[in-house]
Amino acid sequence: MKIDYQLKAASERRSEPFAPEGEVGFGRLRTDHMFLMDYRDGVWQDPRIVPYGSISMMPGAMCIHYGQSIFEGAKAFKHDDGEIYTFRLDKNAERMNNSADIVCIPNLDENLQQQAIHALIDVDRLWFPEQDGACLYVRPFIFATEDRLSVSPSQAYTFCVMLSPSGAYYKAGTDKAIRLLITKKFHRAVSGGTGASKAAGNYSASLRAAKEAAEYGAAQVLYLDSTNTQLEEVGAMNHFHVRKDGSIVIPKFTDTILKSITSLTILELGEVLGCEVRQETVMLNQFIADIESGEIIEAGGFGTAAVVSPVGSYIFEDGRIVTVGDGKVGKHIKNIYQVFTDMQLGKRTAPNGWLQQV
Ligand code: PLP
Ligand code: COI
Repeated sequence: MKIDYQLKAASERRSEPFAPEGEVGFGRLRTDHMFLMDYRDGVWQDPRIVPYGSISMMPGAMCIHYGQSIFEGAKAFKHDDGEIYTFRLDKNAERMNNSADIVCIPNLDENLQQQAIHALIDVDRLWFPEQDGACLYVRPFIFATEDRLSVSPSQAYTFCVMLSPSGAYYKAGTDKAIRLLITKKFHRAVSGGTGASKAAGNYSASLRAAKEAAEYGAAQVLYLDSTNTQLEEVGAMNHFHVRKDGSIVIPKFTDTILKSITSLTILELGEVLGCEVRQETVMLNQFIADIESGEIIEAGGFGTAAVVSPVGSYIFEDGRIVTVGDGKVGKHIKNIYQVFTDMQLGKRTAPNGWLQQV
């Protein structure tokens, strides 16, 4: 399928690489263009790149009322050869369609999703932030646009991709370990629900708990399953811990946990990391006991935006605090972060197909 371009006038576009003065931060900035494509009459059609700007919709658009909206998050990196490479986009495209299935949105060809992203990055390549540790954060999303008030799948959708020149999601990066609130009051997802998708509603459902986390001085929430006995994941990343023998444990994927592409990557990198990486059901009581006995020595989160974020302590709603090791960033996490980011940046060979040049 041919993608039509409506480029901004040259005078309104960057003419030189983007060299931000201060920290770019995460998700604040936009590039000049966005990719759009519509679904109507049963087919995806009209792929186009247009200047980034507002999208008009009827007030009855179904995404507004019933939240039929899904998104993805990926990153593109600049390598020493000066070229831009996307990382494991095929996995994002596949997951977009899994999310689509969960909230009854029609699938969009996975190759086309990837082509769309590459075409957009190509147009706005001068927006790549020339700053250490920066990237182009890629945000593809699909939302329902049909103007109808009955609760049923919309017959019309828009697929959009926007780009955000970005730095780290958690400002501390791997320099400082964060604190997580373990809540027994709020749940992100329940079995049989939409937790395994990147449905917009999952994120609005997490806001109240995140607000509570802030009141406890925690950066985020570690969610439990609905029986409050098993560890699930963090608001914007999967959870993991490191045992005394160096093995890395990620809670088993269930239908209440998002299948993180970062987690999948780490699971495939055991040999390179020199340790076992496995998934298992993690029981809360055992987890806390293992931290207190020194069986668990490090913990953290995996995510595209969050990368590898160390967790130094947990706080419960009754004020109890449990510190992992000495509460500082451990050597295993530093190693995971280094190996993973070196691969994204082309400083270490990545398996075939993980990096695609734009
Ligand atoms: N879990 C949730 C709820 C997320 O929003 C994200 C972010 O995408 C992740 C986990 C991490 O997934 P990934 O590594 O694919 O970014
Ligand atoms: C990502 O890591 O790409 C995400 O989608 C997390 C986001 C909610 C900030």
